[in-house]
Amino acid sequence: MTIQNNLSSRAAENLTGSNVMLEGVIKANSDKFDFKANPNGIINLGVAENQLMTAELRDIFSSVDTADTKLFGYGESPSGSRLLRSHFANNVFNRYFKPVEPVMGEQMVLTAGCSATVDNFTFCVCDPGDGILITTPFYGGFNTDIMAKSKAKVVAVHLEGVNPFGLEQIQVMQEAVDNARLEGTRVRAFVLSNPHNPLGRTFSRELIIAFLRFASKNNIHILFDEIYALSVFDYALTGLAKEEQPDNNPFISVLSIPNIEQYCEKELVHVAYGMSKDFCLNGFRCGVLLSPWNNELLDAMRSIAVFTWMASTTEAMLTKLLGDPNIIEVFTKTNQARLAESYTYTVHTLREHNIPYLPAQGGHFIWIDLRQYIPSSLIGASQAGERTAEYLVWRAMLKEGVYVNLGEAFSERLVGFFRLSFSVPVPMLKLGLERMIKACQWASLSDNELNR
Ligand SMILES: Cc1ncc(COP(=O)(O)O)c(C=O)c1O
Repeated sequence: MTIQNNLSSRAAENLTGSNVMLEGVIKANSDKFDFKANPNGIINLGVAENQLMTAELRDIFSSVDTADTKLFGYGESPSGSRLLRSHFANNVFNRYFKPVEPVMGEQMVLTAGCSATVDNFTFCVCDPGDGILITTPFYGGFNTDIMAKSKAKVVAVHLEGVNPFGLEQIQVMQEAVDNARLEGTRVRAFVLSNPHNPLGRTFSRELIIAFLRFASKNNIHILFDEIYALSVFDYALTGLAKEEQPDNNPFISVLSIPNIEQYCEKELVHVAYGMSKDFCLNGFRCGVLLSPWNNELLDAMRSIAVFTWMASTTEAMLTKLLGDPNIIEVFTKTNQARLAESYTYTVHTLREHNIPYLPAQGGHFIWIDLRQYIPSSLIGASQAGERTAEYLVWRAMLKEGVYVNLGEAFSERLVGFFRLSFSVPVPMLKLGLERMIKACQWASLSDNELNR
């Protein structure tokens, strides 16, 4: 009897195939770099984890009594305490997202991380086999969130040659919905991240409205994952990094679109958020589903919230952080300035080595094109979509002591693109980039050696 015989078919299905993103993370985390304790360890420029604000967070939390006996029991509610939800409403959304109608805590369900938010959302809007539309490249975690438990399908819209920030994509998306429907897949939602992960850019008002119209036309939910909303840093850029960004859009939350009902039935519009990115607290596991106009969805989310109930200690610590608007203001501005500094350093280094990249204005990462390092023997195969070369460069980087995330993890069909996270202090970033470039150079010369 194999182990799989003991599993449900839906769990067994999860054991087939690989999760590239998770494999990389586990590798990097099992041998973490440290200047003193482990200088030969792996520098993590692959995960979207912001290490720029650790000292500030330590300070903020130092006054929280994490051994308070009150925290040993269950929290007030599986979908988050009223106080914490009201802090999210008043001190985060209403201050920074410019909502047309002020947001309230009752319109939210908190979960243990935004991944859980997307998983629970999928569970509530999809039956097994239903589809959720996403344009590529997209944050790879969505695959797991959508498929692993709810058994919905990701309907990936490949935008090759079509600008992911332009209106032309709407037609490609429509074709994808029509084709999926012809094949018998009921498409139930469109999910997008704004600011975009992995491209690090924001969508224009015009495009957000076009997305809303598209959702309405197809009668599908539209989930705006705005988890990087406060990590937009372009105003703080300096020198060349700033000059190359003449046509940036500011971040526009869907909540700030006036008369939204002119474009889409309000019940279909939702926002996902969390503490992992803008507040650098990936380990705290806190996500938010904000659905201002759909009580039924909120009730459905509440009915399963017990499985993704945040820890009481996390809740207490977040209540401290989000309860003080001044702390948030200083934290956010400092974080954005540091992101800008690390980004600026990164693009200078990329330019020095003639590595093409898509200028970013938000998020923790930059999308880079390493196709020049594909060994000549593999160029033809790579152009045909074979991924050996991408793995070759990736393994060379890991051997050299740096982890950068490969394009495949974002469902990018073109081979040779990577997402580089720069949200680490500059000295570590500098060493990480040196290692990356060294690895690329020798990967391009000797694939045979790597295959040994
Ligand atoms: C766009 C996006 N959504 C959701 C998540 C998951 O966030 P969490 O750590 O809160 O589960 C990530 C993490 O990388 C992300 O980039």
